[in-house]
Formats: sequence, structure tokens, C-alpha cells
Amino acid sequence: MRSYGIRVATADDLGEARAVMLDAVYRDFGTGYVPKWHEDIIDLTGFYVAPDRHVLLVAYDEADGAIVATGALDSRGPRQPQWLADRYPDGETAQVRRVYVRPEHRRRGLAGRLVGELLDFAARDDRYRAVYLHAYRHSPGALDLWRTLGKEIWAEDDVVHFEIPLVP
Ligand SMILES: CC(C)(COP(=O)(O)OP(=O)(O)OC[C@H]1O[C@@H](n2cnc3c(N)ncnc32)[C@H](O)[C@@H]1OP(=O)(O)O)[C@@H](O)C(=O)NCCC(=O)NCCS
Repeated sequence: MRSYGIRVATADDLGEARAVMLDAVYRDFGTGYVPKWHEDIIDLTGFYVAPDRHVLLVAYDEADGAIVATGALDSRGPRQPQWLADRYPDGETAQVRRVYVRPEHRRRGLAGRLVGELLDFAARDDRYRAVYLHAYRHSPGALDLWRTLGKEIWAEDDVVHFEIPLVP
């Protein structure tokens, strides 16, 4: 039985974390790297490590230290449509991002643990009022995961939007 640790990403973790994310966008999503969607993956420091109210977590295999999953959170709400942006404004909304688990480590509770720690981080920040995320319908396991953790607030053809309860 494998055991895993989770930590806030350090500078030394960023290369491996980026590899987990890029493998997901190439292999799971099939889009490859698209600059307008994925620029945060290249600049993990600027998007998640440097800003105080943002965080990047990594999960590692305790046997060999390899990073096997990621999860991030920032203070940007959705951009559109306007009603959704108004409901989840920048600064008050913690958006969960880049929850990716390498295929051979899935269904062992890692995404659930990562999201739990992201929610704890958001709850410690008294300016966050809600936790929001969106997921692509074709992402393996994604809708199943988010339905266990939150409620669906809007479904488009390809993208489903969720809110997860922020427990103080
Ligand atoms: C979605 C993803 C992050 C789930 O990671 P994970 O570590 O396997 O998830 P967990 O083990 O924490 O699963 C928690 C629960 O979510 C549900 N779930 C997760 N993946 C599932 C799947 N493939 N099928 C059905 N239910 C699933 C189950 O209820 C599961 O509990 P259970 O295993 O006790 O039944 C992972 O499959 C992944 O990286 N997919 C590709 C990238 C992606 O789509 N990420 C989400 C971006 S929005």
C-alpha cells in the first residue's frame, strides 16, 4: 500500500509539478499546451507561489519522493458570463485549479486530500467568501470528483461550473 505526503510546493518542486500538469493537458485533455489557457503552468511562481493569497500544493510518493499530483488555488473569479463573474468576484473567490493526479496514482484519495487542504487554506483567509471551479466534461474522473465535493451551478456543453462549500 503506497503512502503519500502533501506539501506546499517549494522552488525545487516546480519542475516536477509542471510535468504533472503538462502531461495532463496533453494526455488527459488532448489539447496540448495552449498559451491563453495554460500560461500559469509555465509561470507557477508568478501565479501561485509568490502571491500571498494563492497556493500550489504537491502530493509526493513517500517511497521515492516523486511528485504525483498537484492542486492550486488563486483569488481570481470566472471571467464570463457577467452573471457568473458577478456572483464570484475576484478577491472574494478562491478558485481551485490544476487538480491533476498521475494516472497510476488515481482512486487513492489524493484529489480529495489536496482539495481538503486547499479548502483549509481558503478558510484561513478571511476575505474568501466562496470556492469556485470549472471542469471539462470530457476530463477523466473530473465531474465524478467535483460532484462528490460540491454542487453544480451551471452546465455548458463542454464546461461545468461548481461551487464547493467553504467551511470556516
Ligand atoms: C479527476 C482526478 C483529479 C481525480 O483524482 P483522484 O485522486 O483519482 O480522486 P480521488 O481518489 O480523490 O477520488 C475521490 C472521489 O471522486 C470520485 N471519482 C474520482 N475519480 C473518479 C472516476 N474516474 N470515476 C468515478 N468516480 C471518480 C469518487 O467518488 C472518488 O471516491 P472513491 O474512489 O472512494 O469512489 C484525476 O482523475 C485526474 O487527474 N484526472 C485528469 C485531470 C482532471 O480532469 N482533473 C480535474 C480538472 S477539473
